[in-house]
Amino acid sequence: MNRLVSGIKPTGELTLGNYIGAIKQFVQLQNELPDTEFFIFIADLHAITTPQDKQLLKSRIKEIAAFYIACGLDPNRVNLFVQSEVMEHALLGYIMESTAYIGEMERMIQFKEKRRNQEQGVRTSLLTYPALMAADILLYDANIVPVGEDQVQHLELTQTLAERFNSQYGDTFVVPKPYITKVGAKIKDLQDPTKKMSKSNDLSVKSYILLSDNLNQIKNKIKSAVTDSDTSIYFDEVNKPGISNLLTIYSALTNLSIEEIVEKYKNETSYAGFKIDLAEIVASHIGNIQTKYNELIASNTLDEILDQGAMKAKMFASRKMAKVLNKIGLKRKK
Ligand code: AMP
Ligand code: TRP
Repeated sequence: MNRLVSGIKPTGELTLGNYIGAIKQFVQLQNELPDTEFFIFIADLHAITTPQDKQLLKSRIKEIAAFYIACGLDPNRVNLFVQSEVMEHALLGYIMESTAYIGEMERMIQFKEKRRNQEQGVRTSLLTYPALMAADILLYDANIVPVGEDQVQHLELTQTLAERFNSQYGDTFVVPKPYITKVGAKIKDLQDPTKKMSKSNDLSVKSYILLSDNLNQIKNKIKSAVTDSDTSIYFDEVNKPGISNLLTIYSALTNLSIEEIVEKYKNETSYAGFKIDLAEIVASHIGNIQTKYNELIASNTLDEILDQGAMKAKMFASRKMAKVLNKIGLKRKK
């Protein structure tokens, strides 16, 4: 059986860019990989490698889990859980720290970048983060790990650590393969369509759409998106980045191809009709997600899903951990 592991950091609010570029791709994997068991967790231990507000972190953990389910992640198909509730992650993380060399950690590009951005003291866990990530993966004998380009170096280190451990103590870990997710469309800033849509980089709230925005706000943001002074609707990222971005969003949410959309609006003499239609499409799409999200957050269902996910993950993880401890001579009883 194939096993897939992935972690989602509970930092930041989800944007339309996150949804189209990442969450949607992820949800599709459920259907594309029917013979695969999924372990997806909210990587809360990874979040605290940098300072976090306690109350915000607490609510983000549940919000992110609820949004992923509302966006289509199927809890019957996926073991969805919170990382810190399966303590074996931290224990195997320590064993991985005792397998990795400092030099290997210091070479990680993400560490070098994040260290530079950190104004206060750099936490030790920011350096050792890849050991915990290796543990997250190796704990479940995962052979498939969907990651974006920025995580490939961490995954290569995971492979190195699995092989090193296996050669020191005998065959224990499955060496995982990266599964580079199909690059989802990159969604651009609505006010400056040459930049990526991102809450953290943008000062103006009109630049990005959050999955939690109210529907009128969403419609207004689409209608006031910056476009060029031409009136014809076609895809040209260089000369018409604004319209091209709106076409990308339209296509992602309707499954119509860009060509089909261009054909549909070919007789328009202004952008207004196109923008009004897209505003309705985005608002209705996010509206559906919010309806499911609100149901989940207001009921016990979310907690039940996360409890169940943690229980299943724990069953797997504790058995694996016993084997690992035994291999290195740390288990007192057989
Ligand atoms: P971040 O929110 O930057 O940590 O990214 C989380 C995931 O969402 C990553 O897989 C990103 O590639 C994806 N993502 C973030 N912003 C966008 C965007 N504007 N367009 C497409 N994908 C995005
Ligand atoms: N490091 C990943 C990120 O920043 C999140 C993550 C943590 C992860 N553990 C993982 C991803 C294990 C895949 C597998 O996005």
